[in-house]
Amino acid sequence: MKLKDYLKKAQKEKWTVGQFNFSTFEQLRGIIAAAQKTKSPVILGTSQGELNYLGLKEVLALVEISKLRSLTSLFLNLDHGKDLNWIKKAIDFGYSAVHFDGSELPFKKNMKCAKRIVEYAHKKGVLVEGELGYLRGGSNFHKKIARIEKEDLTLPEKAYKFVRETKVDSLAIAIGNIHGIYAGMPKLDFERLKEINNKTNAFLVLHGGSGIPKAEIKKAIKFGIVKVNINTELRLIWKKTLEKSFKVQEIRPYKILPKVQKAIQKKVEEKMNLFNSNYKSY
Ligand code: G3H
Ligand code: ZN
Repeated sequence: MKLKDYLKKAQKEKWTVGQFNFSTFEQLRGIIAAAQKTKSPVILGTSQGELNYLGLKEVLALVEISKLRSLTSLFLNLDHGKDLNWIKKAIDFGYSAVHFDGSELPFKKNMKCAKRIVEYAHKKGVLVEGELGYLRGGSNFHKKIARIEKEDLTLPEKAYKFVRETKVDSLAIAIGNIHGIYAGMPKLDFERLKEINNKTNAFLVLHGGSGIPKAEIKKAIKFGIVKVNINTELRLIWKKTLEKSFKVQEIRPYKILPKVQKAIQKKVEEKMNLFNSNYKSY
């Protein structure tokens, strides 16, 4: 099944496909192992920074080999693409989807660029995710309390217009979510989500999935979110598990890194069960 079919199915049956970002081999293996175990389709996300570090051809080769071995459906998504050259490359080289993040651009410019990307991507069967509203912060651990302004949030009217004009397949929205983990709990605006969902058929995406309480995630899925992005929680686990390993006398990477892989797998499995994406891979 293609990614579009899974997202449609998720929309109809009210579950969500997880996107998990990676920039190391053990992260990738941990994510795929979790998808195998829970029989979940999974989106493997690489931001421009993550991709730049690993290398486009290296990422594609790793994922292609993994696909041959995997019994689950694996899809690559370019996450937060801001540079048109990177986006074009990802489309040309075989990514299943690209996320064009034009959220810092004026509305009209964001629409114009998204439309151009959609025209190019759709010819090659690649899905495009647009973004509307402004998501502060990066995928990091922040000690302060998150600052979310009302004007950052996605306006349902604009979401309708954006999807109609650009024909993006998916739309990343700002409803109180934020990138990274902060002191204090994020609170999602479900009324806004419901309104956006009523106005458009686009696949709605929740970025900044780390640190959002389980009950809020469940509610977001109920009201139309079909893709949730997770990065910070996996980065934290990666670092903590490595730090722990360094406390003992062990220098062999092949003894240390499987522990990191296992810890990531465990967290991803937990998320996949929460997303109810288990037993949905064909
Ligand atoms: O695009 C990636 C995600 O939005 C990750 O957000 O780091 O808060 O999990 P997160
Ligand atoms: Zn994001």
